[in-house]
Amino acid sequence: MIEPLPHSFHENSIQTLTMTSFKGTVLVAGATGKTGVWIVKSLQSHHIDYHLFVRSGAKALDLFGPEIIDKLTIGTLEHPEEIKAALCYADAVICAVGGNVTDPASPPPSAIDRDGVKRLAKIAKEHGIKHFILISSLAVTKPEHPLNKYGQVLSMKLEGENEVRRLYSEQGYSYTILRPGGLIEGTPLMHALIFDTGDKIETGVIRRSDVAEVAVISLFIPDAHNLTFELIQGKEFPQSSLIQLFMQLNS
Ligand SMILES: NC(=O)c1ccc[n+]([C@@H]2O[C@H](COP(=O)([O-])OP(=O)(O)OC[C@H]3O[C@@H](n4cnc5c(N)ncnc54)[C@H](OP(=O)(O)O)[C@@H]3O)[C@@H](O)[C@H]2O)c1
Repeated sequence: MIEPLPHSFHENSIQTLTMTSFKGTVLVAGATGKTGVWIVKSLQSHHIDYHLFVRSGAKALDLFGPEIIDKLTIGTLEHPEEIKAALCYADAVICAVGGNVTDPASPPPSAIDRDGVKRLAKIAKEHGIKHFILISSLAVTKPEHPLNKYGQVLSMKLEGENEVRRLYSEQGYSYTILRPGGLIEGTPLMHALIFDTGDKIETGVIRRSDVAEVAVISLFIPDAHNLTFELIQGKEFPQSSLIQLFMQLNS
């Protein structure tokens, strides 16, 4: 089972949180993935309600404990009816789904990172979801990138992104698309983060826990809305909050 974040985790950002937070339920697609687990922890620590869309109920119960049994919908992005069932509970979506590109038995990126994401975004909008947050990847605009050897995964992610931008840039809706560098493990808020736009960052890594935290605060920070940005970690440097990072992009 996952460990909760330390009690002091958001101590220093409480002032910001009391000013503004997200009211409503967030559907986490891919909640049992390595980033998804951190997204759930971050939502819990921000006291934001959530519902989980997962492929395996057993894996979810193992990770999050029996108390989340009422917060689960089992299904995959390949099945519209399962997506619809999950969205009944949601006011916003955070999608951390990613196909397994190295396993030939898994559906290809065209089915998950492109078509699955497009399907989720479209059905979510039809269900009145106003905010869609997508975890994508650095280098999606670079067709020659070596990772594209694996089922054109980066180009497929870009197509998924494009649909999210198209659907959620309409007035009254918002999107945030995070393009992290290589994902690594570790606790959040231990590094300065570097944000940029335009897919200019060549390389870099970032902790999944920081990506998760940025995804969650994007729900309620207006500067994060209708934004696509890259993020990697910089120097080790404990952070009290990641909220101010969006100012890098808007300065
Ligand atoms: N690895 C990297 O260095 C890196 C770098 C940049 C961006 N990214 C992207 O960041 C995101 C999160 O990465 P991660 O390492 O946390 O991935 P992960 O651990 O592999 O998790 C992926 C999640 O997607 C779920 N999933 C896969 N196919 C699905 C489907 N058809 N329907 C519904 N859910 C499905 C998986 O379900 P199960 O739990 O049942 O397996 C899992 O929960 C992914 O989009 C990934 O491509 C990764």
